[in-house]
Amino acid sequence: LDGGSLPWDLAGKHIVVTSGGTREEIDPVRFLGNRSSGKQGHALAALAVARGAEVTLVTSADLPTPPAVTEVRIESARELREETLRAAATADVVIKAAAVADFRPSHVSESKLKKGTGAEPAEIRLERNPDILADLVAARGRGEVPTSCLLVGFAAETGDASASVLEHGRAKLARKGCDLLVVNEVGRDTTFGRDHNGGWILDSDGGETLVDRASKDILAGRILDAVVERSR
Ligand code: CTP
Ligand code: CA
Repeated sequence: LDGGSLPWDLAGKHIVVTSGGTREEIDPVRFLGNRSSGKQGHALAALAVARGAEVTLVTSADLPTPPAVTEVRIESARELREETLRAAATADVVIKAAAVADFRPSHVSESKLKKGTGAEPAEIRLERNPDILADLVAARGRGEVPTSCLLVGFAAETGDASASVLEHGRAKLARKGCDLLVVNEVGRDTTFGRDHNGGWILDSDGGETLVDRASKDILAGRILDAVVERSR
């Protein structure tokens, strides 16, 4: 982060970033998790501070807290929801880089599940987690999140027989009701029959910015540029 050459274009803004995966408890020693490292969200938080923002980072990631960032620790999707909605009440922008578990175990065992006598452990039944981004959109509609608050989602998509990465991204943007959606292409896009590793920043206004494959710091810069542009 070369402070000298960065624009000071987020001064006076409170930006909430969510980062990393959630952990959904099975028993006191086990959880369901995912591979999200939190690097993209942490890069966004660090860069937003360097461009003048006040930043709240809601995260479970095992990464150092970037300087001058207020970190709020969470584990489960429900904790992430509560802390994100709390922070969003005073936010100008919420950027949802966290990989939220879609499901959690319906029942959390109070004691450790043990091997041994008799039957194998029962199946782990799952239930749906709340959709935090959809809840933010709804909270904004009710005025619990400022009407002017910009909501930014992320989506990792693969192309398939029914739609390309871009088409899946457009559909998700419409479904989620957020203002910007950062679409990352993962794997091969079978619809166009070619690899292209970049992604798009989709704007609910209809704008679509192609982003070439780049480091998480560079992508963070592009995302914040889109936030500044959209906030004008
Ligand atoms: N998200 C969320 N709450 C959830 C799931 C996802 O807030 N329970 C957010 C993510 O943080 C991300 C965006 O929604 O910013 C898109 O996540 P994604 O998993 O791609 O969307 P889903 O609606 O869960 O769709 P899919 O069925 O493709 O997983
Ligand atoms: Ca999901």
